[in-house]
Amino acid sequence: MASGQLSREEALACSGCRHACHVMLYADTASKLFGRTPIRHIVLMQMRFDGLLGFPGGLVNPEEESLEAGLSRELLEELGLEVPITEEDYVETCHAPPISSNSRSHLILHFYVKKMEEEQIREVEKAAASTAVDHGLEVMGMVRVPLFRTNHNGGLSFFLTHSFIGNARSQLITSLLRLNLVSPQTLAKALRKSLRMHA
Ligand code: GTP
Ligand code: MN
Ligand code: MN
Ligand code: MN
Ligand code: MN
Ligand code: MN
Repeated sequence: MASGQLSREEALACSGCRHACHVMLYADTASKLFGRTPIRHIVLMQMRFDGLLGFPGGLVNPEEESLEAGLSRELLEELGLEVPITEEDYVETCHAPPISSNSRSHLILHFYVKKMEEEQIREVEKAAASTAVDHGLEVMGMVRVPLFRTNHNGGLSFFLTHSFIGNARSQLITSLLRLNLVSPQTLAKALRKSLRMHA
């Protein structure tokens, strides 16, 4: 297990801890950018009320609901429709990055990934922009992650220069690699470019 990670059981045994669950929803697609470049996959993130990018989801109280039931409840609020999440979608758990160097976070983050059909992703996007109670409040809108590199180093590299909540940026990068949604070479180039643009 990587540093900062803990098992789901260890996490749930922590008495003074708060828990949050977030999910990366994605689908395969045959769509082509500019009618010629296959984009291959759709990955959803959201622009949060605080101006940071993150994944849909939120705080869960394990004394009142399972992690998955809590995550599904948050998705109903933020996406405006039912997206059932099960233990099969669970990926990993870690401590939230501390806000300042001398504070230890009592927030534990559980991360999920769920593959959907392209049509279901479109339904999510529609509902999130219309019926979701949190639309325009907690959530300013859903965004698709550009997974490709365009001319002038655009696409994924520019996307990665934005600011992300918690460790959502590394959750995204790790998931893209693990699920082979982006080639390691494309990802490495995009990361190198995004770091240089930040400097
Ligand atoms: P309220 O309903 O206002 O309580 O918000 P919420 O329940 O939707 O909580 P939120 O989604 O903001 O998540 C709670 C905390 O988890 C945040 O304050 C962040 O510290 C962290 N967090 C939020 N989004 C992500 C994410 O995508 N990845 C990770 N790792 N952490 C996140
Ligand atoms: Mn949330
Ligand atoms: Mn919420
Ligand atoms: Mn909430
Ligand atoms: Mn809320
Ligand atoms: Mn693939």
